[in-house]
Amino acid sequence: MTPRRDIRSQNRVETLYCSSANQTTFLPLHRKTSRARRQSGGHSERVTDVALRLAKEMGISEAEREIMRRGGLLHDIGKIGVPASILDKPGKLTPEELQQMREHVNIGVRILQPIPGFADAMPIVAQHHEWINGAGYPNGLKGDEITLHARIFAVADCYDALISDRPYRAGLPVSKVVEMIREGAGRQFDPRVVEVFERLMAAGADTVRIEETEKSLQAV
Ligand SMILES: [Fe+2]
Repeated sequence: MTPRRDIRSQNRVETLYCSSANQTTFLPLHRKTSRARRQSGGHSERVTDVALRLAKEMGISEAEREIMRRGGLLHDIGKIGVPASILDKPGKLTPEELQQMREHVNIGVRILQPIPGFADAMPIVAQHHEWINGAGYPNGLKGDEITLHARIFAVADCYDALISDRPYRAGLPVSKVVEMIREGAGRQFDPRVVEVFERLMAAGADTVRIEETEKSLQAV
């Protein structure tokens, strides 16, 4: 069992990286993403589900939510370029390994850039680990330099990462994760997104509807 101190330290590290394609291109790429993260199967679907519910609550149009869905399901596609020994490492990542892990954003952009029609969804892939205060990666964007889509995914991504079991720690209780995200408002996260997130969680939206996301994926 991982010592408590290591768990806290990993949480900090995780917080640091928490964070139209046509059908013939989109579906195989989405399946590759899922395979790349065997240890957190369904992560992209769950993150997308949460992000879409946040977006709907924020009044984002259905057309924009469709763009978000495409970007969300592929937001971590670049992890297919990160060694499994790093993705599945049960212990803390070294600085070099952390750098390689962070490269998944740039790898994802390089994979998706040539796909016609994916440009609208690209900011989700490129910016989902940026921080509102400029301390994120890969480009240190801050505030409105980060698209609203990506700011929404930053919250949804972190939420799912922290509630999920990882090789180095068990998933954290939802109440604890909500508290951590609240503490990150204005620093890591857009406070307006956090406010909506807290409202949804208070209303009992702490379960996900993966089936619905999958169903809508089939309808692309
Ligand atoms: Fe990511």
